[in-house]
Amino acid sequence: MRAARFGLSFAVRVPTMFSVDGTAISSANLRGLADLWLDGATPSDADLRAAKSLAAKMAAFEGIRPFSSVVQQLVDCVSQPDFKIEKVRELIEADPALAARIMRVANSAAYRAWEACDSVPKALLRIGATNVCELAMAISAMNFFKDLDGVGKKIRDHSAGTAAVARELALRVGRVGASPKLFLAALLHDVGKLLLIQTGDAGYAALAGENPAPNSLHLKEQAQRGYDHAILGGQVLLSWNLPEPIPQIVACHHQPKTVPRAFAISRSIDLLRVADCVDWLLEQGHDANSPHVRKLARSPDGTRAGLSVADLVNLWDDLRAVRSDALSVFK
Ligand SMILES: [Fe+2]
Ligand SMILES: [Fe+2]
Repeated sequence: MRAARFGLSFAVRVPTMFSVDGTAISSANLRGLADLWLDGATPSDADLRAAKSLAAKMAAFEGIRPFSSVVQQLVDCVSQPDFKIEKVRELIEADPALAARIMRVANSAAYRAWEACDSVPKALLRIGATNVCELAMAISAMNFFKDLDGVGKKIRDHSAGTAAVARELALRVGRVGASPKLFLAALLHDVGKLLLIQTGDAGYAALAGENPAPNSLHLKEQAQRGYDHAILGGQVLLSWNLPEPIPQIVACHHQPKTVPRAFAISRSIDLLRVADCVDWLLEQGHDANSPHVRKLARSPDGTRAGLSVADLVNLWDDLRAVRSDALSVFK
């Protein structure tokens, strides 16, 4: 029962949640939003206030579109059931900066570059045309924040590192098919933080700059604002038309219990949450023998993701390598 409600509320109600001015929300849609962090309970006044403040924040992002016309054309192109791969190649090659960035990703450790990828057709072969299109969207979205320094830069690095680690973990636990979308969701998982920083939200940069462990900042955000960066990021990615399940994974990455275990994205969220912690531990300089690595493997996220202590310990140096490679690709 709950699974059906979740699917409907997420897939259908969320995209139509806000009015043009971002303030008028129907009671049905408020319920849809409240479902995300109430796990189906009746929304309280505080939850409804949170929904309204999120709507107001979303209104500030109305009209923001981080995608170039090339990326928009790419999206339109691969949305056609009979799209031609030649057209995808032409579009990418028309934007040399984008083509170069896509080839750098195709050559990165995250994509297991056993052989140099030196052309767009090879990148299309390695990554896949649809995945390349989504990668172009993610690269554009990250580029949108490229001028941020300080805390913003740290968050961008964390996003790149988490993406590479998430992809590597997905491959190691046999989630090969889910790995491209997981890579993109992980790359964009903290986009809500970048938005809050970029819009000059008072005090937010200082709060995020404390560099708290994963799974703690969102609690302060909820206490202060009534919503967190995950929900905000998921909403903005939906408004940017990022394909499913990327916005859903992002929206729920700090509230995995809102996603029924029967849903396939639930395992992607587990892997993202583990990758989130792995990146933080690596950034803090922890090595494979750290008790925190064992604790992470034994945590509910680690267990649900299918990672044993031995898996994570043995993988640690590889995860460090793919992370550092990703930081150079996305810097
Ligand atoms: Fe987060
Ligand atoms: Fe994160």
